[in-house]
Amino acid sequence: MKTLKVKLPGRDYDIDIGENILHKQLPNVVLKKNTDLVVVVTNETLHDLYPDYISSIINGYGIRVASCVLPDGEQYKNMDTLSKIFDFLMAVSANRTTLLIAFGGGVIGDMAGFAAATFFRGIPFIQIPTTLLANVDSSVGGKTAVNHPLGKNTIGSFKQPEYVCIELSLLKTLPSRELKAGFIELLKHGIIHDETLFDFVESFSLEPLDFEFLEEAIFRSCIIKGSIVEKDETETGIRATLNFGHTLGHLIENHAGYGKYLHGEAVGLGMFYAAFVSWRSNKLIEDDWRRIKIFLSKILITIKLPPIDQKLFREMILHDKKSQKQSINFIMLSKLGVSYISKETSVDMLWKEFKEFVEIFTDFIEIEVR
Ligand SMILES: NC(=O)c1ccc[n+]([C@@H]2O[C@H](COP(=O)([O-])OP(=O)(O)OC[C@H]3O[C@@H](n4cnc5c(N)ncnc54)[C@H](O)[C@@H]3O)[C@@H](O)[C@H]2O)c1
Ligand SMILES: [Zn+2]
Repeated sequence: MKTLKVKLPGRDYDIDIGENILHKQLPNVVLKKNTDLVVVVTNETLHDLYPDYISSIINGYGIRVASCVLPDGEQYKNMDTLSKIFDFLMAVSANRTTLLIAFGGGVIGDMAGFAAATFFRGIPFIQIPTTLLANVDSSVGGKTAVNHPLGKNTIGSFKQPEYVCIELSLLKTLPSRELKAGFIELLKHGIIHDETLFDFVESFSLEPLDFEFLEEAIFRSCIIKGSIVEKDETETGIRATLNFGHTLGHLIENHAGYGKYLHGEAVGLGMFYAAFVSWRSNKLIEDDWRRIKIFLSKILITIKLPPIDQKLFREMILHDKKSQKQSINFIMLSKLGVSYISKETSVDMLWKEFKEFVEIFTDFIEIEVR
């Protein structure tokens, strides 16, 4: 098992990572909280796969455990489902000392975290992430939110957990496509901030699952995200570098229609494009670009999108039809493992590079540009 501490003023917490560790670690942490009620927030899929998993671990310590089981899917990450969590908390007489446990992927973590941030103006919560994406990304950093019909993650808050336990054995049931999509965000941390993490993952394959490799790779990835969050919890500066690949990634998710491609799949192509732009702008040397290209080529899928023209591209990049802006903050690489925020990047230049990119990399993107 590996342990990492995220240090934030008055809110330090541990992240434990390992295989078959939850049975040993969770009861200790829960007992220290001196609570008489634990509410587990999870979804139907996990509830079916792992019936009474968390409650059987905590049972026998004189603590009441209740499970709030929500429908599965991003389409349920909204105010209605959040309300269901509050209804459940009220129905089981939860109070200020109730401990909330999020048992699921990023959707459950984001919703349970937001419920914990606001119920009685804040109750303690623990994250037990069950997807690779949640292991390396959503469970670290304290961003919580639900979606509004007009925008993703628009209603939320910052809420750091009391503890995170990354139980690797849970990944055995995760569908391969989800696994690969989560791996992209792990790889992103190496590409933007730590060349040695990139070196390390370059020499392994993701499947079949190798828990020793995953423990080390997830640990190193969480160190990077944790240290960025320590420096800039609310994203006023360096935390924005974590958005590497997300400019095109979000455009793809939106233009394809939400749900067609997984977030990691879209961001993977976005990372490829951002590295391409960095190389073409003479910021990234040929050798680093080649390594990123070879690695990403092995995991990217082919993304098929409806036609696009410059006007639509611009509107989607700026998230606003009426905006007069001509430039955006774009995350670039100055070398493998070093990223920076390129302020005032011209949208016209990004469009020009996009046209070039789709002409060359037809194995990864099929789109008609007009
Ligand atoms: N808070 C943050 O900083 C942050 C960062 C990145 C992403 N997010 C959010 O995270 C969400 C995406 O998270 P995700 O990729 O984990 O998706 P998810 O939570 O929807 O999980 C993906 C699918 O895998 C299933 N699943 C989860 N664990 C499983 C397991 N162990 N075995 C079998 N099936 C399992 C889920 O039921 C679901 O169907 C998005 O809503 C995104 O906005 C938040
Ligand atoms: Zn992301």
